[in-house]
Amino acid sequence: MIQPLQLGNRNFPHNIIQGPLAGISCAPFRRLTWEYGKPAFSCTEMISCKTLIYQSKVHPRFVMIDPNEGPVSFQLAGNEAKEIAEATKIVTDYGADLIDLNCGCPVNKIRSKGAGSSLLMNASKIYELIRAMKENTTVPVSIKIRVEGLSSDRFKQDIVNAVSDAGADFLIVHGRHWTEHYETPCRLDEIQFFVEGLSIPVIGNGDVVCLESLKKMLATGCAGVMISRAGVGQPWLIKKLLAEINNEKFISPSLQQIGNIFLEHISELSQLLGQEKFAILQARKFAKYYARGLTKRLEFNEAVNHCISIPELQKICKRYFDVTN
Ligand SMILES: Cc1cc2nc3c(=O)[nH]c(=O)nc-3n(C[C@H](O)[C@H](O)[C@H](O)COP(=O)(O)O)c2cc1C
Repeated sequence: MIQPLQLGNRNFPHNIIQGPLAGISCAPFRRLTWEYGKPAFSCTEMISCKTLIYQSKVHPRFVMIDPNEGPVSFQLAGNEAKEIAEATKIVTDYGADLIDLNCGCPVNKIRSKGAGSSLLMNASKIYELIRAMKENTTVPVSIKIRVEGLSSDRFKQDIVNAVSDAGADFLIVHGRHWTEHYETPCRLDEIQFFVEGLSIPVIGNGDVVCLESLKKMLATGCAGVMISRAGVGQPWLIKKLLAEINNEKFISPSLQQIGNIFLEHISELSQLLGQEKFAILQARKFAKYYARGLTKRLEFNEAVNHCISIPELQKICKRYFDVTN
């Protein structure tokens, strides 16, 4: 059900969230998502606690909040209580509205340090880390996990106990095992297990891209839904889904507007990253997502792949999206 969402001491007018995406969900992406989609809140990509604590200057890409964006959850990655405690204080000072701990990342570089999804096999550590977060901030605290799936890993009841005993304000569940690729469908029954086992809100995540998949996720009884990949290149998606589920009319942006949103995204990235060439590299990555509605999308992607400056990108958008300025 679409409904107001209470997470700890924070209230949100509805329960659809833009999830974290490493390399994507920095301030320009979140600001556009807020302007066009109005999610309950958006998330930063995961940030290593060590980076926050030991680097003399953290790149603004990881920590900058745009004054024109909505509530932001900062996601931490780490596995030592002392560092999590320190990082929690740091991101609280940066202005985090909520703080999440990554317990789902499948990447070897993170797992080999005992962080991300490797934490799932160590519920007492998860308990300790949630306590470290809770003791060092007043904002709502969550963890984001993956599920057992068909693996031999057994952790779900231990996680239920750790999360409720430690006093987490809510839990986010991505319904895949950490070894599973995106072709494996998300396991809604495992998300439901956590919904039924916990008295705190559970946010369901995985494969929500349209009204039908949103309804399936809501049918698990989850308190809210997190949408990650589908928000890329269509920052209006959450507003569209909210309208559709309420049988209200939603007018999708025209191609020209989409072209302008793409240009806004890249120009804000250029300012944030400090170098046009880095923003152009990101443009190459994002082109195919913004081009979903273009008949000549392959040609457009190819043109962006060869583009080397923002003025050139503007010309390409003028040609394919009929952007006027
Ligand atoms: C490129 C990419 C980067 C991601 N980065 C993060 C991350 O930093 N933190 C995190 O918790 N999940 C991350 N995820 C996982 C997503 O947030 C989400 O759990 C997953 O994609 C399933 O949801 P979806 O089907 O709505 O995308 C990432 C996924 C992708 C594809």
